[in-house]
Amino acid sequence: MNTVIPAHVGIIMDGNGRWAQKRSLVRTQGHLEGLKAAKRVVKAASDIGIKYLTLYTFSTENWKRTAEEVGFIMGLIKQYLRSEMEFSIKNKIRVRHAGDFTGLPSDIQKEISDTILETAKFDGMQVILAINYGGRDEIIRTIRRLVKNHPDMENISEDEISANLDNPDIPDPDLIIRSAGEYRTSNFLLWESAYSELYISDKLWPEWEKQDLEDAITEYNKRNRRYGGL
Ligand code: FPP
Repeated sequence: MNTVIPAHVGIIMDGNGRWAQKRSLVRTQGHLEGLKAAKRVVKAASDIGIKYLTLYTFSTENWKRTAEEVGFIMGLIKQYLRSEMEFSIKNKIRVRHAGDFTGLPSDIQKEISDTILETAKFDGMQVILAINYGGRDEIIRTIRRLVKNHPDMENISEDEISANLDNPDIPDPDLIIRSAGEYRTSNFLLWESAYSELYISDKLWPEWEKQDLEDAITEYNKRNRRYGGL
């Protein structure tokens, strides 16, 4: 049997805190290891031939964490964008953003927009960093955009909403993965995940390797996608 590679995979990278706690380390240490796992999985996804990989990096709800933890994650995002540029160039990886860009600190905004610009022409895998992202927030921002430009909101269609999301050209995720065993989607790609297959693994995010992504794809291949049909 030929393995079908899902075109778009979304990942809820959960369990950094628990990974640290298990080792009596501070939570930020878990995020540091989480960043290493993200790098491993991006490389694996690119090798496997996934076309779009969305990483739930920082949610609109994550601002509720301590200033120290928020600052640390923002620092990691910066570090990721800088340190992976060489890898992106070599592997033709295009980096994009999903979420409320204007709500991000200006230094992070600059880092993200520089990376987007520098990788815009690459035709390899696209890595979408969901930063300051919330599914409901994306829908609200989409409606606000539509209200401004759409003459006939009363008759708005599904396609028109899809066409005004943060990244309308990106197909809906085929597979959504969540690490660390929690059975919820936590406001991730709310509109886009209507027919996504869900894969939940008990493994904590910092422990993720290429094999874990391959296991998820193997499981995905056992699913029978019906999109509400028979
Ligand atoms: C969830 O673990 C993880 C986050 C909220 C942050 C994700 C950030 C990274 C993996 C590092 C940056 C990555 C990139 C790609 C720039 P948690 O803290 O909720 O864990 P817990 O549920 O065990 O407490």
